Amino acid sequence: MTQTWSPSSWRDRPVLQMPTYEDQNALDAVEREMAGLPPLVFAGEARKLKKKLAAVANGQAFLLQGGDCAESFSEFNANKIRDTFRVMLQMAVTMTYGGALPVVKVGRIAGQFAKPRSSDTETIDGVTLPSYRGDNINGLDFTAESRRPDPQRLLKAYHQASSTLNLLRAFAQGGYADLQQVHAWNLGFVKDSPLGARYQDLANRIDDALRFMAACGITSERVPSLRRVDYYTSHEALMLNYEEALTRQDSLTGEWYDTSAHFLWVGARTHQLDHGQIEFVRGIQNPLGMKVSPAVDPDDLIRLIDVLNPENEAGRLTLISRMGHEQVEEKLAPLVRRVKEEGRSVVWSCDPMHGNTIKSSSGYKTRPFDAILAEVRGFFAVHKAEGTHPGGVHFEMTGQNVTECVGGAEDITDEDLSSRYHTHCDPRLNANQALELAFLVADELNAIRAPQTILSADPVAAE
Ligand code: TRP
Ligand code: MN
Repeated sequence: MTQTWSPSSWRDRPVLQMPTYEDQNALDAVEREMAGLPPLVFAGEARKLKKKLAAVANGQAFLLQGGDCAESFSEFNANKIRDTFRVMLQMAVTMTYGGALPVVKVGRIAGQFAKPRSSDTETIDGVTLPSYRGDNINGLDFTAESRRPDPQRLLKAYHQASSTLNLLRAFAQGGYADLQQVHAWNLGFVKDSPLGARYQDLANRIDDALRFMAACGITSERVPSLRRVDYYTSHEALMLNYEEALTRQDSLTGEWYDTSAHFLWVGARTHQLDHGQIEFVRGIQNPLGMKVSPAVDPDDLIRLIDVLNPENEAGRLTLISRMGHEQVEEKLAPLVRRVKEEGRSVVWSCDPMHGNTIKSSSGYKTRPFDAILAEVRGFFAVHKAEGTHPGGVHFEMTGQNVTECVGGAEDITDEDLSSRYHTHCDPRLNANQALELAFLVADELNAIRAPQTILSADPVAAE
């Protein structure tokens, strides 16, 4: 691991979960073309996010990361982007108020295409074809033509990410994110939710706070930060040809940044110490994430931290645990304890989705809302017991009214799953389920909030 790093040094390592292309020349041509295309994000933005995550690591902010399991070419339109953005802001307001903490907003969006699969091939009725690996690799249809990895899809993914990010930037800065407006949407949610009464009190208190601020002259007309948010992008660093082609040297610092997103994470299936994904991300200066499954033991974890964050820089590394609701307390606690004992600065975030996937009796892959909630609660309980900061949450969710996870206030049942099951990969929380969870997280944050400090959303201003 001490060898010199370059954007292509991952090529000397074993890699899992990557496609095999038939035409190497066609792939090379696409990579060359991508290497000449404009970056999607700037190094300075990634540095600002790292600063915000440093505040999370220090217990002074909370991370909200969420979006589709996998983006797709077919479900790509403005309304869908808007709805995901909107529900994330609605969640963020609730959590900001509940915890009296700034919430760092990071979408799983504008590049979240590639998917790891449990098997390289899929067999249906005696026919075996390559598995679907995400729209940037091949197609979901079960035909030889569609399942053939096509390098042109990488370019299409880049252009889709670019126009997604363009719209997100407009929403974040152009007035759509106005706090008063986002709060008004939450009032609508509370009014219509079957569990509305439970959230009414929190919504009323936010309402009061906004009225008080307005009476003091703090309105979005006068204070731009009330009508703007910083919204960051992230995806799994899985398809390394794509990531390498978008990795550029920052002209200000000479450091390397992967300009495909602000934040990149390594998945639970590809974080072997000597493999390509870890080799690639260790050399880029973006803030990083790593999924932590029950299979990781404390020694493994420290070795990975040594490689990913050798300088112990706050904000550099977010550990995203995905233990399952039954094991979260037992498996997470020893890891949290060890990281603390070793004095490592990390952000602990909870992914309550991936350890709680089951097959419903109707045959759909689903996730029970109560199991998701139980894992979030277990995560908060572990951090309370260990005296560490429960830094954030990582959800697979959509702003659409889908029926993919069972339960929640609307009580989606097994039989309902077939009516609006649209995911290209894992089951996502729908808008109402996501908001319901945000209200519950807000309660958890409220219970641990530090009464003596006043914190600001902008860590630069807070310095
Ligand atoms: N800019 C602040 C922040 O991001 C306040 C803010 C404005 C806000 N619009 C928002 C917070 C929408 C949450 C959601 O925290
Ligand atoms: Mn997933």
